[in-house]
Amino acid sequence: MSELNKIVLKIISNGKGILAADESNGTMKKRLDAVNVSSNPENRLLFREILFSSKCIGECIGGIILYDETINQTTSFGKSIPDLIASSGAIPGIKVDTGAKDLANSPEEKITEGLDGLRERLKKYYDLGARFTKWRGVYSISEKYPSKLAIHSNAHSLARYAALVQESGMVPIVEPEVLMNGNHSSDVCFSKTSEVLEKCFEELILHKIDLSGIILKPNMILAGDQSKYKISKEEVSHKTLECLKGSVPSEVPGIAFLSGGQSEIEATENLNLINNINNTKFIMTYSYGRALQQSALKMWSKNINDKEVTQNIFNHRAKMCSMAAKGKWSYELESK
Ligand code: G3H
Repeated sequence: MSELNKIVLKIISNGKGILAADESNGTMKKRLDAVNVSSNPENRLLFREILFSSKCIGECIGGIILYDETINQTTSFGKSIPDLIASSGAIPGIKVDTGAKDLANSPEEKITEGLDGLRERLKKYYDLGARFTKWRGVYSISEKYPSKLAIHSNAHSLARYAALVQESGMVPIVEPEVLMNGNHSSDVCFSKTSEVLEKCFEELILHKIDLSGIILKPNMILAGDQSKYKISKEEVSHKTLECLKGSVPSEVPGIAFLSGGQSEIEATENLNLINNINNTKFIMTYSYGRALQQSALKMWSKNINDKEVTQNIFNHRAKMCSMAAKGKWSYELESK
């Protein structure tokens, strides 16, 4: 077993998943504005410090993805953020892309940037304690899109990123996110996601990536949020599994879904159903941002110094996701 594969398994085995707390300062401002809390470095640290010192870290959460500001912060009790995470038995990770920009010659689409100087930044993050990283490519669905240009160029960047990350001794999370915005059907989501994933793996293989040392972070197969053709949760789970079975090489050890705008319960239930019928050898777990933090953030905003009540909500959500990653979640557990 390679060192990278050991890191992967430490993060996602036994019902553990990933907390995506890597919102950029811009995104975090939107989240905090929505609950009337001012977005400054102190408040961003306070919320994250409360989450990262919760009981579920290490028990249900095997890895936390951080943003550059956070990985460099020190907690109110003097520990660095990466040390706090590691001391609970979880692994610190870091978002290393620098965001999605307009794609030249197809400006309605996006290309993710951040390759320049990446080798040097990775060394710095490794020294700070990070052992895994994230890079997100983003694709929207409409009649013309995603174009071959967007699919090819994002796959190429994801592969170059993954190669540099593995060279630096860390595990790359490869995140090609096909967005749920739009009026497309789930069948269109299925075919576009398959095309995106197949191209990504073609490039990852070309760039000699050790596939046993990556985590794939895809979207589930859903109908667009404006679509009239909604499908049942059972269909979501069947279609998601079918898509991943057809497009992901079997050497990949684990798949950690993004929540992508699903509600907390929806993201939990869909993951649970996927694990109920998982007939692949992939570990299927979560790498949720909003679907892990939404309720905790709302509660915290009522009294930003009440650590306990925020942690209770967060621990519960993480526990529910962890049960879903084992296929053992039920509605009854939500109210216990
Ligand atoms: O890149 C996306 C985030 O890491 C996951 O966030 O679960 O809110 O979609 P989300």
